[in-house]
Amino acid sequence: MVKRIAMVGAAVLVLGGAAGAATSEDDALAKGRQAANVLTDTLRDQQIANVREKGAGASLPQCYYQALTVSKEVETTTGVRIKRTSSKLRNPGNAPDSFEQEALARFERFARDGMMPSDEIRKEKLDGKPVFRYVKPITMGASCIPCHAEKSALSEDVLRALDEKYPEDKAVGYKVGDLRGILSAVIPVE
Ligand code: HEC
Repeated sequence: MVKRIAMVGAAVLVLGGAAGAATSEDDALAKGRQAANVLTDTLRDQQIANVREKGAGASLPQCYYQALTVSKEVETTTGVRIKRTSSKLRNPGNAPDSFEQEALARFERFARDGMMPSDEIRKEKLDGKPVFRYVKPITMGASCIPCHAEKSALSEDVLRALDEKYPEDKAVGYKVGDLRGILSAVIPVE
């Protein structure tokens, strides 16, 4: 675990994030993209390794800690706050705020129309302060299937783990290519 955290830190540094606020919209976009890539790639690599080593049911509870650890690491190294959210939540703690709700609705429309943008950046106010807000669609890949597919396709272990940890789970019924949610980053303005 310690090694993995160190790797995340290194990835952030290699990708060139000078810690601190964005100086322009382009700079904010670069910072948002960098944070999104680190979170997506790290989580996917960890999930693939865990599912292979222990199976989806046994590794399911770790997803929470991994997402938390990587987002915290991104925030401390780059100042960018990043989370994952969805309109069909597994963890109610990942609920969208009003800006994210609108972004989800917009991306769901884009998905229906078949013209999904790769990401978006906007200058907004958050708690009275100007910030840049970055959002990027999250689409389902093959590696997500063991934990987010139709209930009938999930293993007994996964169903049991979901019942125990996420009795209110709504994040099932997805196919490869479906919009699963968004990555949402808040980038401070200089
Ligand atoms: C081993 C099981 C497992 C795999 C594989 C998995 N997930 Fe999840 N996913 C979870 C769990 C558990 C949570 C809840 C984590 C938490 O508490 O924050 C979650 C939460 C999420 C969330 C946050 C929103 C919410 O519903 O709480 C998104 C988005 C998400 N997963 C997308 C994906 C994508 C995309 C993939 C494939 C790249 C994937 N997941 C693969 C188990 C899994």
